[in-house]
Amino acid sequence: MTGARIDSDRLWRRIMDLSAFTEPERPWTRPAFSDLHRRCRDWIRAQMESAGLEVVIDAGGNMAGKSSGSIDGLPSIACGSHSDTVPSGGRFDGAAGLAAAIEIAHALADNGMRLNHAFEAIDFLAEEPTEFGMSCVGSRAVAGKLTAFSLAAKSPEGTTLAEAIDGMGGDSARLGRPLRGRCDTAAFFELHIEQGTILERAGTDVGIVTEFVCINRHSLKVAGEAAHAGTTPMDVRRDALVGAATLVQNVSERAESLNSRGTYLVATVGRIAIQPNGANVVPGSVELALEIRSNRVEAVRDFEAGFFQFAADACCKAGLKFDAEQKSSAPRVSVNEGLRMHLREAAASSGCSFREMPSGAGHDAAHMSEVCPSCMVFVPCLRGRSHCPEEWSDKDQIGRGAQVMLEAMLSFDALACPK
Ligand code: HGY
Ligand code: MN
Ligand code: MN
Repeated sequence: MTGARIDSDRLWRRIMDLSAFTEPERPWTRPAFSDLHRRCRDWIRAQMESAGLEVVIDAGGNMAGKSSGSIDGLPSIACGSHSDTVPSGGRFDGAAGLAAAIEIAHALADNGMRLNHAFEAIDFLAEEPTEFGMSCVGSRAVAGKLTAFSLAAKSPEGTTLAEAIDGMGGDSARLGRPLRGRCDTAAFFELHIEQGTILERAGTDVGIVTEFVCINRHSLKVAGEAAHAGTTPMDVRRDALVGAATLVQNVSERAESLNSRGTYLVATVGRIAIQPNGANVVPGSVELALEIRSNRVEAVRDFEAGFFQFAADACCKAGLKFDAEQKSSAPRVSVNEGLRMHLREAAASSGCSFREMPSGAGHDAAHMSEVCPSCMVFVPCLRGRSHCPEEWSDKDQIGRGAQVMLEAMLSFDALACPK
């Protein structure tokens, strides 16, 4: 163990202070690109500065607090997560990892320590799904995965993703190619609440992530014909919502049927918009957001092939029109074994119980894996609740996870350094 100690109280205070940036009538809501998010970013900047970091915003709109290392010219060790939330989300998803990254800088500074490598604490832009149909906007920008097509995607108000990134201090004209080369970042570390029940049930302190599921998202459209709900007999209706309901049911049943030994697959329709959405109008069209996740790309392909065929046939039979557009895709990613070894050793030497486990959630670390070795530490959360206001974790558990991450970073810093 080294001298630098995570101050769990300070780390916890930052998480709680960050959570105060919420839509008051809808806790805990902080949508990316909102004025609220911008105000929160001013606070994050001040916190990074108070930890001795110099703050810059990259072309992808990511906020990074940097400090130099003791050896000139070494790439940085980066650490971070995100500050946006889902609607009516929790106080820890993203915030815990961002606060842990700032706390690591603070703990090192308190102890008069500098890494050999430069250090960065990063607040990635828009990790959660946005109105542009894409999540992990900032980390995809770093990996060079924002195409001209995705940057031109428009919000319902007509703003493009490129304009929204620029509005957060980014420079969308520079996107499309990776913002970091393999020589710019030596490693990336992210701490996150588990968002599941495995650690809590087993009484384990820390999860070390082995892989991330692949995630595909599609926008589905079912078009029928709006009509008077009182005068249009049942046998002549072309009710888009009735058609959409059949599809939602099929998504759930199909996903369940594709799970087997070795295959984990989940699929969700999490958002639905009905037009014209009137109590006395037969729905004319419905738009649904479909998301599929699996540890096996082939299983996602099987799901998609079967479901799209089913949807086209079912809609055709009901006199409805069916369209689908893929909005985003994130590949399955294996976590760097070298960094996992540092995490295992750090957990063992800190006296923390740990287990290696896959992640069913998507994270910025998965996209950072494209530009540098990346890894992830999970800490337990209460009853696995996440993406809901009840999301909760424990001060000491988050502190322990951050200490393990710091110890792993220090041993990586020493080992990955030219002698
Ligand atoms: O959707 C996810 O998996 C993550 O919470 N953004
Ligand atoms: Mn989330
Ligand atoms: Mn998250």
